Amino acid sequence: MLRDIEVSEVGMGCMAFSHSYGKIPTEEYSIEAIRNGFEHGCTFFDTAEVYSQGLSDIGHNELIVGKALKGVRDKAVIATKLFLSVPAFGSVYGTVRKHLEASLKRLQTDRADIYYLHRMGMISVEKVAEAMGKLIDEGLIRGWGLSQVDVDMIDRAHKVTPLAAIQNIYSMVERDSEDKIIPYCMENNIGFVPFSPIASGLLSGKITAETKSEHYDDVRNWVPQLSKKNIVGNQPIVDLLKKYAEIKNATPAQISLAWMLYKYPNVVPIPGSKNKERIIENLDSSLVELSEEEFISLENSLNECKVYGHRGLGGF
Ligand SMILES: NC(=O)c1ccc[n+]([C@@H]2O[C@H](COP(=O)([O-])OP(=O)(O)OC[C@H]3O[C@@H](n4cnc5c(N)ncnc54)[C@H](OP(=O)(O)O)[C@@H]3O)[C@@H](O)[C@H]2O)c1
Repeated sequence: MLRDIEVSEVGMGCMAFSHSYGKIPTEEYSIEAIRNGFEHGCTFFDTAEVYSQGLSDIGHNELIVGKALKGVRDKAVIATKLFLSVPAFGSVYGTVRKHLEASLKRLQTDRADIYYLHRMGMISVEKVAEAMGKLIDEGLIRGWGLSQVDVDMIDRAHKVTPLAAIQNIYSMVERDSEDKIIPYCMENNIGFVPFSPIASGLLSGKITAETKSEHYDDVRNWVPQLSKKNIVGNQPIVDLLKKYAEIKNATPAQISLAWMLYKYPNVVPIPGSKNKERIIENLDSSLVELSEEEFISLENSLNECKVYGHRGLGGF
């Protein structure tokens, strides 16, 4: 649950159909992949207005998500994001609404279920919260959220208009949010939506120091845990996942997701993949049941591993 919005235990990050992981699939393939995810039980789909190759074709991803979910719209929860890093010209409400209207048109819908501010930038969070409250009252969004924010920002925003979800980076190798943010969200009935939950592929165990990323629009060129040196340094974490994958007859990516699903009741990860089979594999992580003993032993072993590379809440 993301506040009062019901979603599947695992969602689908749709970004890679348009952005961030090199060559994008055809529109036909992407639409089918999203529909397959839906048919497999996924009801939570994550997109953003800026997701497009090289950030040059705004709305590309929303158009695909809109086409894929047309016809099943009422059974799907769509989360999208607006990018507004500098103070709005005119009223913040007017600017946010303009972005939202464009997104809704591309998504072929009359409402967004969750509308996030993608990055804080230099805008007053109180003004954004006020604008989001108005959009909720008008029925144009069901809930709102922030992305890559600390607990002070969350608290300031939540006091103006209660938040439905926080979307921060979170995985076995990016655990900054465990300290204050996830507990705050739990106490205040706010969903926590981890992005890059498989650490951009590292935790699948499929990446080695020899794996080559693509030249254009591929975050794997700079994700710190994926430098040649750090892939080697992080191998004990991957080995740990492989060990549990064997015990549980699952895959390392599934164990990394099952770990966070077990750990927190309010966490809904949105793994990203542009591969139909892996999308199903990731959704099925909700079927991997860790016992209390298995979780504790996995957690203890993880805590003993040093993590090489850190993105944190500061950047992308
Ligand atoms: N709020 C924000 O600022 C923000 C930032 C980044 C992302 N996001 C959202 O979060 C979603 C997920 O993040 P992400 O895509 O960066 O990271 P991720 O889910 O941690 O990892 C994606 C990478 O892992 C690979 N992968 C995924 N599942 C796999 C599996 N089972 N086996 C092997 N490899 C696998 C994918 O390759 P293949 O495609 O080849 O499977 C891709 O290279 C995005 O789609 C987006 O919606 C939000």
